[in-house]
Amino acid sequence: MKETWKPGNMLYPVPAVMVSCETKDGDSDIITIAWTGTVCTNPPMLYISVRPERYSYHILKESGEFVVNLTTKKLAKATDYCGTKSARDVNKWEKMSLTKEKSAFIDAPIIKESPVNISCKVDQILELGSHHMFLARVEGVQVDEELLDEKGRLNLEKAGLISYSHGQYFELGKVLGRFGYSIMRKKRKKR
Ligand SMILES: Cc1cc2nc3c(=O)[nH]c(=O)nc-3n(C[C@H](O)[C@H](O)[C@H](O)COP(=O)(O)O)c2cc1C
Repeated sequence: MKETWKPGNMLYPVPAVMVSCETKDGDSDIITIAWTGTVCTNPPMLYISVRPERYSYHILKESGEFVVNLTTKKLAKATDYCGTKSARDVNKWEKMSLTKEKSAFIDAPIIKESPVNISCKVDQILELGSHHMFLARVEGVQVDEELLDEKGRLNLEKAGLISYSHGQYFELGKVLGRFGYSIMRKKRKKR
């Protein structure tokens, strides 16, 4: 038997990312966002959905830029803090000892401590309801060199990424398979 529920958001797990942004006057913020996702491969595009009452909203709207910073086990506390405190009251960079660094692609800052920084420019703002969706183009990505192997391949599993599911943060579990593993032929055992 199943219970039937009224419409609601139950698409989990999702990422919980830290979005950094800054106006031309240097007013900057970090907002934690779970309503985010990839929407197009080519051109690379993603979205973040933000409530207009967030302090960061005006920065995002004014600057038309932001950086999506992936979050890790080490950054879990900062992720939660940046999602519960407002830049109206605190300087989140200072309080969480996060380092503001110039993005290689846009004027908005990256968070140095995050292993992957995705610099974006806003393409459209869709006023959906409680949240406004910032549909954006990815301008470039910065990745910690520590995550690259000797051939320059990215080993993202080394980053300790976290996800968010129904109010709780989780670290990723063990690998279950690789893309396409369900249709791969098994290697024959050598005799
Ligand atoms: C895990 C998590 C996910 C969140 N996701 C969103 C989101 O997708 N959109 C949003 O507007 N607020 C979201 N929030 C709430 C904001 O991060 C929070 O209100 C923050 O304090 C706003 O900061 P600001 O006022 O400095 O912009 C989330 C909070 C947490 C803890």
